[in-house]
Amino acid sequence: MRVAVVGAGYVGLVTGTCLAESGNDVACVDKDDAKIEALQAGSIPIYEPGLEELVHRNAKEGRLRFSTDLAQAAGRAKVVFLAVGTPEGEDGDAELRHVLEAAEEIARSVKHYTVVATKSTVPVGTADRIQEIMERRAKAEVDVVSNPEFLKEGAALEDFQRPDRVVVGARTDRARRIMRELYAPFVRTERPILLMDPRSAEMVKYASNAMLATRISFMNDIAVLCERVGADAEHVRKGMGADTRIGYPFLFPGIGYGGSCFPKDVKALLATGRRHGIDLDLLRAVEKTNERQKRQLLVRAVKHFGALDGRTFGVWGLAFKPKTDDLREAPSLEVIEGLLGKGGRVQVYDPVAMERARRLLGERVTFAPGPYEAVEGADALFVVTEWSEFRTPDLERVKTLMRSPVVFDGRNVFDPAEMEELGFVHHAIGRAPPGPAK
Ligand code: UDX
Repeated sequence: MRVAVVGAGYVGLVTGTCLAESGNDVACVDKDDAKIEALQAGSIPIYEPGLEELVHRNAKEGRLRFSTDLAQAAGRAKVVFLAVGTPEGEDGDAELRHVLEAAEEIARSVKHYTVVATKSTVPVGTADRIQEIMERRAKAEVDVVSNPEFLKEGAALEDFQRPDRVVVGARTDRARRIMRELYAPFVRTERPILLMDPRSAEMVKYASNAMLATRISFMNDIAVLCERVGADAEHVRKGMGADTRIGYPFLFPGIGYGGSCFPKDVKALLATGRRHGIDLDLLRAVEKTNERQKRQLLVRAVKHFGALDGRTFGVWGLAFKPKTDDLREAPSLEVIEGLLGKGGRVQVYDPVAMERARRLLGERVTFAPGPYEAVEGADALFVVTEWSEFRTPDLERVKTLMRSPVVFDGRNVFDPAEMEELGFVHHAIGRAPPGPAK
């Protein structure tokens, strides 16, 4: 099938590449000349495990092309995916400028019956708005469907190719048939394709992310309480997760959720609520808890050291989670800004996000070539992202390199008993603060 994907960002690239891999003829389009030139030359602008290899193979075999010519790509395609960015707008709602501009251009370009599928996370009712644009401007019949993505960064290819579910909100059988055909290679009976109306499909995306964010904030609240009452959040997590109604995934307390989806989508859903006169109290609390949680380690550091000025801090992990170089809404930034703001010196290390961080933080921090260099002479180490290489370091070496053996473990990567034995002061999430160093 001929497919066009508008927006060669994270979602667009993954979608286009996976659809090419399943045998479709895909054109990925973007307005950014530099990005398209780089992609044509084989350079991938984001870090995502396995993506580079898949892009190269499909491009070489002629199923995947990159271009800036939206009109041509949309004119040839049977399905046009909209995967342009929806940044946070003024009132917290998703900013639809890019989506609507692309929709206008698609409307001017279609030559035959086309399905326009929105992949971007857009407020409920957006597919209907785009349908109106098509009806006003397009010379051919167009069905607009909502087809939200549920890709986790770091596992996006797996999520696309073996999805828990595919959600398609469509008004006509014709559009449903085409979407079913496109997704057939990825869905089996146990991985359903769920057909519904566009508004429900749009809501599924927001409600899913809001529910996951709620789970994390709930667990973070429980963790704070565990610290106070002398319970261990790690035991509590295991005990809760064993109940199949609760389940284990997404129950890890930490230093707050970040990334390009949860913070933005929670805000956008709150904005939708406000627009309709509904106060989503629970979701407001989720957001508030997350803001508090992002400051947790800093508060503890101040409690531990008193003043931070003149002290040196090592930071392990910059990306908002492992296996990505994405720094959007990353709790690391809050930690680093807090330490700098209080006069501390910061030495950072991340396996893949250093380049991006350099552009954001410039000369204000020291970029260490490895985890051990980051803790040299440090008064404390902050573990901010749970990369697997941070789970089993040579802790004796870490201790020798540091000025004082204090660890703020924002992801509970270390075992408290082992840390105590090694003589570290180990602050973890959801565990009572430790006694003084031995
Ligand atoms: C998320 C959704 O999972 C995905 O379905 C959606 O389409 C986009 O948003 P992503 O942002 O890539 O994906 O990351 P995810 O793995 O969901 O993690 C989000 C945040 O929650 C991260 O900051 C992570 O560290 C945090 N988290 C996750 C926790 O603090 N505890 C957990 O138990 C799980």
